[in-house]
Amino acid sequence: MGKREGFASSFGVLVAMAGSAVGLGNLWRFPYLVGTNGGAAFIIIYLACVLVLALPIMYSEFIIGRRSQSNVFGAYKKLAPDSKWCNVGFIYVLCSITIISFYSVVGGWTIDYFVKAATFQFSSASADQLSGMFANTVTSTASPLVYMLVFLGITALIVLAGVKNGIEKYSKIMMPLLFILVIVIAIRSVTLENSYAGIEFLFKPDFSKITAQTFLDALGQAFFSLSVGSGSILTYASYVSRKENIVKLSAQTAISDTMFAIVAGVAIMPAVFAFGISPSEGPGLVFVTLPYIFNQLPFGSFLAVLFFFALFIAAITSSISMLEVIVAYLDEEFKLKRRTSIVLSLILIATLGVFCSLSQGVMSDVKILGNSIFDLFDKSSANIMLPLGGLIAVIFVGWRMKKAEYADEITSGGLVKFSRTTVGIFYFFIKYIAPVVIATIVIRSLF
Ligand code: PFF
Repeated sequence: MGKREGFASSFGVLVAMAGSAVGLGNLWRFPYLVGTNGGAAFIIIYLACVLVLALPIMYSEFIIGRRSQSNVFGAYKKLAPDSKWCNVGFIYVLCSITIISFYSVVGGWTIDYFVKAATFQFSSASADQLSGMFANTVTSTASPLVYMLVFLGITALIVLAGVKNGIEKYSKIMMPLLFILVIVIAIRSVTLENSYAGIEFLFKPDFSKITAQTFLDALGQAFFSLSVGSGSILTYASYVSRKENIVKLSAQTAISDTMFAIVAGVAIMPAVFAFGISPSEGPGLVFVTLPYIFNQLPFGSFLAVLFFFALFIAAITSSISMLEVIVAYLDEEFKLKRRTSIVLSLILIATLGVFCSLSQGVMSDVKILGNSIFDLFDKSSANIMLPLGGLIAVIFVGWRMKKAEYADEITSGGLVKFSRTTVGIFYFFIKYIAPVVIATIVIRSLF
């Protein structure tokens, strides 16, 4: 391993961070969780989780990563030498492996649907036929595996190209394009006849639907969507220069991600209602609803191709950030060549991914703690590992690092000016609010 790379420009850092945050979490997971958790009330709790919990974690990961300029394991080793803190690095590596394993299966579905859209396979299909098509797509044995491997292969190639020439270069082109596409679809969706019920569902809360599980789902989704708690932000932050304003970067990342989620909701829900599809359709929501919508729209086939390409883009810029966690760890801690680290990671992820994929079909009878392997990977990472990873980061910054070190990092060594009150408020959230609330939600809903 040579000299450590870094991002070349502030814009590059921002698109890479936003690229990691914006992904299937916004366009696939968020809409279906909103659908199954009753709509607006879930969104309100979700937004509160972003602001009060995920953002302090993002600051903390930024602080740890940028200050240490090291991978998830080395970071804690550098900042807390002669202690056992570095072992927490394993949680981030494990979490990234778990997420990317099922994420690449869904990433594979996006490629599959892109191909289907480009070859007009769902033009003129009815809603029932589309439901059947989704079921067929995910329960087949061979094709989801092939698409998953293609998705992983592309992820690996970009990560192999390195931080500047891979992640930064691709994110710069892909993210703005994606945003434009989702806005176009949202505008089309709200202008459909009978779409109002969908807007009401998104923005008029019904608090009677809320349970402890709603809180855990909202918390998990906030972390998943902002990529916090898995070490991705920490690892990317380790490539960020000392001059960058990390508070601003975190806020911009969180705002872009939240905007994407809301716009994705607006793109999908009004259309779901306009066409009489059930909002609680589940993980198939995007894949069943949108093709149906596209079929009813002028230029629908063209929009469908663009949309699934966009979904694929969103997924790739996120999966590269997960793979980077594992690769940076192997690179730096075991002094492996980048290529070797990538190959080793891929072998492990692809193997786990095979089980996640098959658990939708031939292995659907295999249940662990009542869940299919896919669901187990999804739920355990979002609702347990990410909160745990996040908790560790805030506890480390709040309780292990010196307040002076925290202040030095948040002000980029004095380059960025904040009032003492602002610095103090962020600190209060990191030190007290985030740890207490995360622990309460996770413990309450688990027991
Ligand atoms: N934030 C990504 C999304 O919304 O799709 C998913 C993700 C990326 C989760 C990176 C965790 C992570 F470390």
